[in-house]
Amino acid sequence: MSVWHIAGGRRLSGSVRVQGAKNAVLPIMAASVLAPCLTELTNVPELRDVDATIRILRGLGCAVERQGGAVSIDSRPLARAEIPHSLMRELRSSVIFLGALLGRCSGARLSMPGGCELGPRPIDLHLMSLRALGAEIDERAGELVCSVPQGLRGAAIALPLPSVGATENAMLAACLARGETVIMNAAREPEIAELQNFLNKLGADVSGAGTPTVTIRGRPLDPGRVEHRIMPDRIVSSTYLAACAAAGGDIELTGVNPTHFSTVLRSLSECGCDIMADGGGVRLVSSGNLRAPMPVITGPYPAFPTDAQPLMLSACLRARGTSVFVENVFQNRFRFTEELARLGARIHTEGRVAVVTGVEALHGAPAVATDLRGGAALIIAALSAEGETDILDSGHIERGYERFDANLRALGADITLIDTKGP
Ligand code: EPZ
Repeated sequence: MSVWHIAGGRRLSGSVRVQGAKNAVLPIMAASVLAPCLTELTNVPELRDVDATIRILRGLGCAVERQGGAVSIDSRPLARAEIPHSLMRELRSSVIFLGALLGRCSGARLSMPGGCELGPRPIDLHLMSLRALGAEIDERAGELVCSVPQGLRGAAIALPLPSVGATENAMLAACLARGETVIMNAAREPEIAELQNFLNKLGADVSGAGTPTVTIRGRPLDPGRVEHRIMPDRIVSSTYLAACAAAGGDIELTGVNPTHFSTVLRSLSECGCDIMADGGGVRLVSSGNLRAPMPVITGPYPAFPTDAQPLMLSACLRARGTSVFVENVFQNRFRFTEELARLGARIHTEGRVAVVTGVEALHGAPAVATDLRGGAALIIAALSAEGETDILDSGHIERGYERFDANLRALGADITLIDTKGP
């Protein structure tokens, strides 16, 4: 258990180089087992979720070395296609290994990934897609027992909703299927294009990522050695900007692609922040006295990202007027607002809608991080609150934020992360 201790009321200023994207590196690390090869990744963020993925790769028999932001994965010694429950429970998104293992090993055995703090996390679209490609999947006793008796074959897959994970899983398995696969209503997130770039470096033939139709022409892969630098994290970028918007200040992000979070930039600008963006960086200046933006409505990319909704909501807690948030992606993504209320926030939630009434001031208070982005939202609120806040965290925030306390301190925040060594 950790405690994030924050003394609020300080403006932020300075520059942050943003980490590599968690939601890009996880599927790419899974993809590295598609072919027996050596994968050298750079700009890999130091996160609990990456550590868990490394443990899964080692559990499959791969050799994995990590030196700071560089991770090398040798998948030639891969010896098994099973992921035990102890590892699956650590990382909900580990279901992404299914497609890669079916491609490489023609079978796989995984325990069912659990739900999470955001509500049920079904994988029916993953299984539908893999079955369309020829997989036989038995769901029994909490396990997925998978085989491909006739081998994987190309298919037309129409996703009823543009699921990021299901799109990625189908892409991975289709790389080694006989024939052509077309994924319709595919997710269009930047991480999908990043995965396509990596797969084509492996020798695959993938096109269309970033559009609703992704086409994969299956063929054998024998890349030998592949190098790839992970793209910057658009949600972490949004987090630092929301923190500066709320606390006031003048910060610059480097190593980012502003087009990946343009909807967040637009909402922050509507709040009264001055934003200057160019090819590789973004600067945000805020007085800390914001006004309510136009309603923030989340949806699949290129709509406002669901992962940035808690961050934007927190930045609006003291904004003049009433801010409205509509969460269209996850069922249970407002739990963190109960914790924000402990700092004096006025938020009314009704199903998928949250209405924030701006308050004059927030005050420090003890609170609990309910999930990864909800925890980051609490830190944003604490930075702009009067007084001190202690956030109890069972490790949620460190799943997605690398050196978050050190980076915020470098920007002038009074924040300390204490590891209580407790469970
Ligand atoms: C990815 O999750 C991200 N995780 C999430 O980020 C992100 O919030 C989400 O995409 C949406 O952008 C990773 O990339 C590791 P989905 P994923 O499949 O793939 C429903 C974070 O904070 N659905 O696009 O699980 C699902 O319940 C995390 O970094 C099905 O019904 O998201 C949800 O309502 C949180 N059946 C919606 O689709 C399925 O088989 C979107 O889920 C799959 C999903």
